[in-house]
Amino acid sequence: KIESGLDGWLRYAELPTESRKTAQHYSSIIVLDKNETSPVYTAGKELQEGLNRILGQRVDIDFELTSQSSSSVVVGTLDSFSAAGGNIKDIPALKEDGFWLDTHADNNCTRIIGQNERGAIYGAFEYLMRLAQGNFAPVASANNPSAPIRWVNQWDNLDGSIERGYAGLSIFFRDGEVVDDMTRVAQFARLLSSIRVNAVVVNNVNANPKLFSETNLDGLRRIADAMRPWGVRIGISLYFDSPKEFGGLPTSDPLDLAVNDWWKEITAKLYEKVPDLVGYTIKANSEGQPGPLTYQRTLADGANMFARALKPHGDGIVMYRAFVYNHHLDESVWEHDRANAAVDYFKELDGEFDDNVIVQIKWGPIDFQVREPPSPLLANLRKTKAAIEFQVAQEYLGQQSHFVYMAPLWREILDFDMRIDGKASHIRDIVSGERLGWNRSGYTTVLNVGSDTTWIGHHLSLSNLYAYGRIAWNPIADPVSIVQEWTRLTFGLDKTVVDTITKISMKSWPTYENYSGNLGIQTLCDIIYTHYGPSPGSQDGNGWGQWTRANAHSIGMDRTVATGSGNSGQYPPEVAARYENIETTPDNLLLWFHHVPYTHRLKSGKTVIQHFYDAHYEGAANAQTFPVEWAKLKGLIDDHRFEHVAFKLQYQAGHALVWRDSVNYFYFAKCGIPDEKKRVGNH
Ligand code: GCU
Repeated sequence: KIESGLDGWLRYAELPTESRKTAQHYSSIIVLDKNETSPVYTAGKELQEGLNRILGQRVDIDFELTSQSSSSVVVGTLDSFSAAGGNIKDIPALKEDGFWLDTHADNNCTRIIGQNERGAIYGAFEYLMRLAQGNFAPVASANNPSAPIRWVNQWDNLDGSIERGYAGLSIFFRDGEVVDDMTRVAQFARLLSSIRVNAVVVNNVNANPKLFSETNLDGLRRIADAMRPWGVRIGISLYFDSPKEFGGLPTSDPLDLAVNDWWKEITAKLYEKVPDLVGYTIKANSEGQPGPLTYQRTLADGANMFARALKPHGDGIVMYRAFVYNHHLDESVWEHDRANAAVDYFKELDGEFDDNVIVQIKWGPIDFQVREPPSPLLANLRKTKAAIEFQVAQEYLGQQSHFVYMAPLWREILDFDMRIDGKASHIRDIVSGERLGWNRSGYTTVLNVGSDTTWIGHHLSLSNLYAYGRIAWNPIADPVSIVQEWTRLTFGLDKTVVDTITKISMKSWPTYENYSGNLGIQTLCDIIYTHYGPSPGSQDGNGWGQWTRANAHSIGMDRTVATGSGNSGQYPPEVAARYENIETTPDNLLLWFHHVPYTHRLKSGKTVIQHFYDAHYEGAANAQTFPVEWAKLKGLIDDHRFEHVAFKLQYQAGHALVWRDSVNYFYFAKCGIPDEKKRVGNH
């Protein structure tokens, strides 16, 4: 049997007969909503399908809750359940999108009650995913999200290409227009709904104003209609100069009345098509994009213009990206530092953004490198709400040709304590809104699903999407449990399968870091075009600011206040002191914060250059173990996916050797210090 992968982790593979026998047998599924576009209705259908596939039970759907209803699965919202006579008094408090799942309610019933319609479908998926893992343990628990914003950003272009996409053409657009067939769009929404992602921004942040053509506005309606039954809302990215380039106005100045009216009108038109539009994402004054600064206005002036256009229509928000920096920076100036840009631009505007603006901040100060400290901007906004931006797309992490499981990386960032005002300030609590009292904040991620049947280009990399949803809902979720769950759902319950995939996954980030760029030097890939493959020489000598400042004697960015760019001083005092001092800076960020001789000794006792040599050998050696480990799964999973992953891991193992030798010989050529272990150099 060929597993296409389109179901992702929602395969609902049939459980073995023995375990099916012990499952609760249901007489009906009671769906407290007859409206076919409601997520509650979809939840009922999904339960019907899932019970059939997992347990072999054919169960009818009913729409009435009666006192006789026994052995039923009941799915509804707090409102519909209480309107139908259900008792909601004992259900603990539910937050927006939360749900109550009780598998042992009165009359042998299972109750899935959402705070809203999305909560109801999330609860249905939760229940089915437990069953699909053979987990029949009784549960009666309330499940609430850590944050209300749990989005994904697709970088899809209207021509069908995807920026940083490695899985075929867009499922949304082709040849300048929205596609006709919404099958994949609905399948995508199903996956997102099951991991409790509540919105998708469908087009590239480098946006095209032709998205506003009549045909495309109607196309957006069709996308939204296909996703709505799954509880997934859509948003769009805007091109800042649309009034000028699409609307025929002489300017796009955010304080110009005609420009404001233009945005209000286009927004009203959009809401006619998509009444539950979730909002706008804006990339402005970034990498050549126009923005408010082009018109001598502040970034807040720009953001607030969109906020005002959205305001009359409901709860739509502006996600204004903090990815604003000068990409023509002069490297000859020692103090120049792209990592300073976000705080430099946004800190002074704190409090000047309208209530429905959220600043969207990449997790690190530069750009999704294999290792960065957290963005200091996450500790510099008090009154302005923020969302953290992750990247499920493995742009700098091997582009889905290498496999890097990112949950451990995200956890490390979210667990980081910023010590704002000397108090516990874990990033997960800043982002949830709890630490600073924000009412709306959360998570988004760059995502690059395409029309490939793997969705993402590598069967294993889809675990990153699953993990993103899990962590955005519960930022202390354990990366090991997440990948185990995902593996059971995706590949089956066999212990060898689960253990092997977990092992490869948990080794994947440190392995990639070791062969692609360690000690906080960043991913040493090609910086100018592809962001792929080893090219340590491309980091310096250009305006992008992802510099290493490597010369014949020394390497690293001096980001100290004392002698460098002052970036360490952008963090709250306790964190700043740690990074300012070379003794207290962790080895894995040494070269991020300090410029040192290659002979500088790390806390491990090794010199920087010897660490480079050793780490690249170790990383490449680890990558060789991945195809060997994977080979154990032959016959334990379907051949189709087995071969696909085997090929990818074999390629990765080979490319890791290329990485190792390219990077090691590059630095050997620079500094002339041979490897103590006589692997690199003229021995
Ligand atoms: C990276 C990426 C670009 C993207 C940009 C962004 O620099 O390489 O393709 O446009 O991030 O986040 O806007």
